[in-house]
Amino acid sequence: MLVAPSILSADFGDLKNSIKKVSTAEWLHVDVMDGHFVPNISIGPVVVKGLRPYTKQVLDTHLMISEPLKYVKQFVAAGSDRITFHIETVSDVVYTIEEIKKLSVPVGISIKPNTPVDSIKEYLKDIDQVLVMSVEPGFGGQKFMTNALEKIKELDTIKKTTRLNFEIVVDGGINETTGALCKEAGATVLVAGSYVFNSENPKGRIDSLR
Ligand code: DX5
Ligand code: ZN
Repeated sequence: MLVAPSILSADFGDLKNSIKKVSTAEWLHVDVMDGHFVPNISIGPVVVKGLRPYTKQVLDTHLMISEPLKYVKQFVAAGSDRITFHIETVSDVVYTIEEIKKLSVPVGISIKPNTPVDSIKEYLKDIDQVLVMSVEPGFGGQKFMTNALEKIKELDTIKKTTRLNFEIVVDGGINETTGALCKEAGATVLVAGSYVFNSENPKGRIDSLR
């Protein structure tokens, strides 16, 4: 299981040292919010640029913004390694995937809790990851929504029957218990913010998710 601590729960007054506490994780999850698609404002390319020299971890960038294509070039130039956009924010999905792929980074699609897997089935062959939101996007520290488990199982079945190899990423309310349920359902990457950063032993928490 890959683990991706969400830096939304990191100490922004001391970000460099805060991410050092989670250096054993394979990925770092970067939550980008525009105050429009979601009711919160968070991280821009400047933060990715600031982080980049201090970590070799994969910067998994979760775009919760209304116009993802307007900013992807800046994020990739700043050091983002993977880009995920929300299906609910774009009308031309194929074009969006192609434009991100032109930047030579893996691309992912995210679905909100009320968005069914059906809405992305036709694109699964063209993407590298699906990000299943297990909370309403916008804030860390929320409670895990169990309907995400059915979606994970559905995606896992699709992978097995089609031999596609996209990552199944789960995001929101992940802890040792909900993480184990997601793993059992077929998740391959667990995003965790508050569970990892709001702990005396972040590395122990990362290990508990594996
Ligand atoms: C919410 C973000 C999540 C969030 C996870 O919109 O996409 O990545 O930071 O935080 P926890 O793990 O605390 O729910
Ligand atoms: Zn996220």
